[in-house]
This record gives sequence, structure tokens and C-alpha cells, in this order.
Amino acid sequence: MVCLGNICRSPLAEGILKSKLNPDFYIVDSAGTSAYHIGEVPDHRSIAIAKKNGIDISNQRARKFIANDFNEFDLIYAMDIENYYNICSLSTNKSNLLKVKLILNEINPLKDLSVPDPYYGGDYGFENVYEMLDKACSIITKNIS
Ligand code: 4NP
Repeated sequence: MVCLGNICRSPLAEGILKSKLNPDFYIVDSAGTSAYHIGEVPDHRSIAIAKKNGIDISNQRARKFIANDFNEFDLIYAMDIENYYNICSLSTNKSNLLKVKLILNEINPLKDLSVPDPYYGGDYGFENVYEMLDKACSIITKNIS
């Protein structure tokens, strides 16, 4: 799960998808395409909305997406179109490129919609993001398990 800062959207996506999958069989992680927040805990508003839904993401720490992630993961979900292109730009072959998907295309195939960046918005933005990611992660879970 990849966003810009790895403190708002992708930590939520990681926590939500982890909550739906058996940890014995799936590794779920998140990262940011920027280095702005490396080492930081998720935004307090992401921690709060996750907690409200029974998910603890407070142990996560932000990291930067690196090219080796293409070797480590089978599927890479970008939260928005800019991050999608930034991830793709680190890919060196077609099979890596095919791993990269826009997460909201799971809900609305081929629409190329972006999860809105809630960083500068209020709490409502985080509720909205949570709902979108929960729907997308349910579909991902159904498709891979
Ligand atoms: P995220 O949100 O990409 O969902 O983690 C952001 C967090 C921080 C910044 C931008 C987006 N920032 O510019 O610091």
C-alpha cells in the first residue's frame, strides 16, 4: 500500500487489509513515495479512525518505497495517480510494472480514481478515506483468498 507520506492513507490501507487476511499466508506492508515522514508514526487522525473500527495501526512507522519492493511483493496498490506514476518510474521491467495498481480501481474498474489526500482536511476526510479503503480491501481480499 503506497501513498505520498506513508502517514495517512497507506497506513490505514495496510491496517485494514491486514485485518481481513490470515497473517500466516499474506504479508501486507505500506510505504510512501516521499521521504518527508520516514520513521514517523501514522497521523493521529488515521490512528483514531482505525481505532474506532477496532484496528491498531499505532505500531507502524513510515518508510520510503524502494525498487526492491518490486521483488518483495506480488501486488502494489497506489493510493492516487501521482503515486502510481512515481512507483512505476522505479520499475525496470514489465512484470514489475504489472504489479502496480490503483487501489480504487478495485471498486470502480478502469476509472482511475484517487483516494483523496486527507492530510490538510478535517476528520471527515479520514472517515471518507476509511470507508473507501475498507471497500477496496474487501474486494482485494475476495480476489486473492
Ligand atoms: P499521505 O498524506 O500521503 O496519505 O500519507 C500526506 C502526508 C503528508 C504530506 C502529504 C500527504 N506532506 O506533504 O507532508
